[in-house]
Amino acid sequence: MDTKRKILVTGGAGYIGSHTCIELLESGYDVVVVDNLINSHPESLKRVEKITGRSLNFLKIDIRDRDALKKAFSENNFQAVIHFAGLKAVGESCQQPLNYYDNNVNGTLVLTEVMADAGVRELVFSSSATVYGDPHTVPITEDFPLSATNPYGRSKLMIEEILRDISISDKLSANENPWRIALLRYFNPVGAHPSGLIGEDPNGIPNNLMPYISQVAVGKLQQLSVFGNDYPTPDGTGVRDYIHVVDLAKGHLKALQTLQGEKFSQGGCEAYNLGTGNGYSVLEMVDTFSKVTGKKVEYQIVSRRPGDIAQCFADPGKAQQELQWQTEKTLQDMVSDAWRWQENNPSGFQ
Ligand code: NAD
Ligand code: UFG
Repeated sequence: MDTKRKILVTGGAGYIGSHTCIELLESGYDVVVVDNLINSHPESLKRVEKITGRSLNFLKIDIRDRDALKKAFSENNFQAVIHFAGLKAVGESCQQPLNYYDNNVNGTLVLTEVMADAGVRELVFSSSATVYGDPHTVPITEDFPLSATNPYGRSKLMIEEILRDISISDKLSANENPWRIALLRYFNPVGAHPSGLIGEDPNGIPNNLMPYISQVAVGKLQQLSVFGNDYPTPDGTGVRDYIHVVDLAKGHLKALQTLQGEKFSQGGCEAYNLGTGNGYSVLEMVDTFSKVTGKKVEYQIVSRRPGDIAQCFADPGKAQQELQWQTEKTLQDMVSDAWRWQENNPSGFQ
């Protein structure tokens, strides 16, 4: 194996990272995962190895630990970094803003400084549709105005701006090894690997819709609270662009390939929406879940959740064209895979 095909995956033990490790290993890349396990379990990586029949290298490191990160770079010849590591709970970010800025923004600063010193300037970053704030219309294209309504979203926005700035600085210094950066703006990742061996394993009561519905269906939670049915949407409930986590994971491989290609030969920093382009309401999700799994999902309508927007779905045209990527999984796949994971692992990785 050519060592130039070795990828550092920060946050690789987490939900999206572990699914991406599978795609990387199955495509012949070597993988080193750096994760402090603050929101994940090392069992996820054991299962990645079981699914792929390949091994990966796991380093329990906090990305803010500069010396440990430097050592990882000196011991490995990385082609690129896929950077998932970060905290992601919107509500928690309002209670602990400094923790979120330190973990997400400072963590990315340390990572990019270590990368630059090591001469590794190829980066795929986990951004979020949250950077569009409350979009004035849908579908959303990458050139929509950016804004944030909470510290989590602001941390993503700040990181995007920092990464754009370091890419611009290359042009001023005529850097011969310029930064090549893909900012992947995920819409709503759901589902699980079809093996049922890995999936989303939220801590405590889930904040997000799909894990909440799954836990109601499996009997761990009593009923779903639907946050508002008076939005200006077809049935009044919030509309989102749910994307299967395996499709999302594959988008990262397409981004890596694109960063190696002609488009980025002079360097650059580009944002891409990773969504399906379809919006589904909360009630449509509940209905599909019941039909696919045969489980009744009890719910009640309650008031709107502060900070929620009416609808959010992507125009994925740029990713389709430039990354040669498009989603393949259906909403039924998302639901049946999420359910297989939930049913087989009612307590997650514990
Ligand atoms: P996750 O919490 O499952 O994975 C993140 C991983 O990063 C975890 O394994 C955690 O232990 C690790 N981590 C956190 N801080 C770290 C640090 N300082 N050093 C080392 N490791 C650290 O989350 P996920 O859903 O897989 O999300 C991955 C990325 O995608 C995050 O950056 C998140 O903000 C972003 N994102 C997620 C969603 C979503 O809905 N899941 C949507 C948009 C963007
Ligand atoms: N919802 C409910 N009940 C619940 C949970 C959610 O009705 O118990 C509704 C929400 O009101 C929303 C929809 O289901 O209309 C989806 O909610 P999620 O919490 O699953 O997802 P969000 O779109 O609110 O947020 C997600 C991520 C954020 C990210 C955002 C934009 O959780 O981190 O997408 O990318 F910022």
